[in-house]
Amino acid sequence: MPGHKRNPGAEPLAQTMAIDITEIDGFDDLHNASGIIKEAQERAAALYGSEECRYLVNGSTAGVLAAVSAVLCGRDKPFILAGKGSHISLYHAAYLNDAAIDTLWERRISSRGVNIPGVADPGDVKEHLEQASAGGLLPAAVFVTDPNYYGVVADTCEIVRIAHGYGVPVIVDAAHGAHFGFKDMPGSAVQAGADLVIMSVHKTLPCLTQTALLHMQGELIRKDIAYRFLRIYQTSSPSYVLMSSIESGLKTMADGDGWSGRLLTFRQRIREGAKDLEHLTILPDDIAGDPCKLVISTIESSISGYELHRRLLEEYALQAEMADTDNVVLIITGMDTEEGISRLAKALKEIDGSIGAGMASCMANASEMPRPSALMTIREAWDAPSEPVPLSEAAGRVCADMIVPYPPGTPALVPGEQIDRESVAFLETLIAEGCEIRGIDENGFVHVIM
Ligand SMILES: Cc1ncc(COP(=O)(O)O)c(C=O)c1O
Repeated sequence: MPGHKRNPGAEPLAQTMAIDITEIDGFDDLHNASGIIKEAQERAAALYGSEECRYLVNGSTAGVLAAVSAVLCGRDKPFILAGKGSHISLYHAAYLNDAAIDTLWERRISSRGVNIPGVADPGDVKEHLEQASAGGLLPAAVFVTDPNYYGVVADTCEIVRIAHGYGVPVIVDAAHGAHFGFKDMPGSAVQAGADLVIMSVHKTLPCLTQTALLHMQGELIRKDIAYRFLRIYQTSSPSYVLMSSIESGLKTMADGDGWSGRLLTFRQRIREGAKDLEHLTILPDDIAGDPCKLVISTIESSISGYELHRRLLEEYALQAEMADTDNVVLIITGMDTEEGISRLAKALKEIDGSIGAGMASCMANASEMPRPSALMTIREAWDAPSEPVPLSEAAGRVCADMIVPYPPGTPALVPGEQIDRESVAFLETLIAEGCEIRGIDENGFVHVIM
């Protein structure tokens, strides 16, 4: 293996195939690293300042599954304190481990001209842990996302301080924050002292899709069990193409080749170009502090985020990362081009000049998202007999499937939650805006427990 035999005739991927090997002699084994992969992982740990780091070739998804499974492993009545806005992999981990979730409701950041999901609040973490401690059963871990998809940065230092005060480890889904901790970037979750930190290097660093890292530190977690789960959830044929891309991407960052400087210059250039926008607003750093995220609010304009997303793509060939009713989120990095950044600045100016003021979307007034109650664990509900019903008639029933607006891939409803009227209205708004929602079929049916 591999079957292509690194044959240069295998166009168009011949160059990739040339480095696509398996665990041949002298090339180590990701699942039992003792040679070049071990050394590369040690360099990654040193770069971020963690005790141990593992390369992931199945994305942050595998890291989240392994980290959560590791903290839940061997527990009676396992449960985890986790942000509602967590990526779906957190919910999949809860399903696989039949764990309950104590939901940490992130507050939305919603003021004049701004409506985006916030991050976990340390005060809320404290309140949940105090209650759990009083009840005599602490969660296996606190699970938070930092930064979130919209570039909002959490106070992970404080969350770690609070959780560690109860002897509870903290898992940080830093899928969007692999650049944190580098020169001129915000501090990383590793620096904040989190016990398990997962980073998708493919999202913001110059690394191939699917590449990610799992950092581990401290005595509150069992690293050997985390490795066990990495062996379970990751392929037994880790791609050397992916692993070498992690190594070279991290080398680029370690060499300080100007990645941060370029990113900050690009960001500044777009901000300067956006100074005179009348209707569109680029959210300021004190709201969306991740330098790789540009969040453009359409709230005070006559168009929705979806419409802006469409116009950027169709009129300017600019592919935004995602849109919701009120925002477009773009990712910029130190690998963007001068031309692309200029095109974006020009596009924003021209689109702004072509639209009017107003309140395009009905979501603009929704300061809080629905808060459905969980009546069963995800495992109990997902495995139970279910039936399809029209979404419009689903209020009061128990959800039997993941209902996930894409992107960002954060479930609006998970199996076991009682579908409330607010959730139905919220989902109907998204459908009317043309958002893709997994878990609702083309006829508008959702699965509920029979
Ligand atoms: C917050 C968050 N966590 C985890 C993931 C999963 O990352 P990956 O695609 O690297 O598996 C994503 C993917 O979008 C994400 O947004």
